[in-house]
Amino acid sequence: MRKNIVAGNWKMNKNLQEGIELAKELNEALKNKTVNCDVVIGTPFIHLASVVNSVDTNKIGVSAQNCADKESGAYTGEVSAAMVASTGAKYVILGHSERRAYYRETPETLKEKVKLALANGLTPIFCIGEVLEERESGKHFDVVKSQIEASLFDLSPADFGKIVLAYEPVWAIGTGKTATAGQAQEMHAFIRKTLVEKYGKEIADNTSILYGGSANAGNAKELFSNPDVDGGLIGGASLGVDKFMPIIEAF
Ligand code: 13P
Repeated sequence: MRKNIVAGNWKMNKNLQEGIELAKELNEALKNKTVNCDVVIGTPFIHLASVVNSVDTNKIGVSAQNCADKESGAYTGEVSAAMVASTGAKYVILGHSERRAYYRETPETLKEKVKLALANGLTPIFCIGEVLEERESGKHFDVVKSQIEASLFDLSPADFGKIVLAYEPVWAIGTGKTATAGQAQEMHAFIRKTLVEKYGKEIADNTSILYGGSANAGNAKELFSNPDVDGGLIGGASLGVDKFMPIIEAF
């Protein structure tokens, strides 16, 4: 059966020392605790190796927030999936709306990134979600479906089975305006139905679909109580253990 996952996305926050400190604090908080979900933290690239060495990786999975769409070579400033994997990180967030919007990531480049991540043994946490205008004009289901189709639906069933999805309505990210539990469930159920049609019930039932967008200690329990919401991708509230732990413990 699919896993529950609470993943933090630190985005471009915390210098190296602050990041190590936060990772150690979280590690300490989880030490003698049994929690009912997998815990992941998504750090900037330069933090990965140090954070991997600062936590019990059986309890905390470490994730990058991006990787290159090329294998290796003359691509100044890029970080490959193989490099991410060589740090001991196990996940990579791909297709975040901030990367789609600000760095012009396209469905085609994302397709390459997903393939390279999988080829290097990383679990992609693949983000999808509509902007406000698309929701208001009733296009949100089509938008999300086409984002999934365009970057993921050429994967073999075995490879698709390794993907984690994160539904992040863009209008809810960093705005304090969370999707209601009903809106989240409605979209997650639609996503799962889309997966059933393409890959069949077993793979669809085993795919974790996380919700992201102003999730916090106050709303996590209600969001996670939905049958198709398998956890969260948490931005702002992952930057302090006091705010992140209650979300983990919402399961
Ligand atoms: P916030 O939780 O800060 O809204 O960010 C969500 C997000 O974008 C996680 O990837």
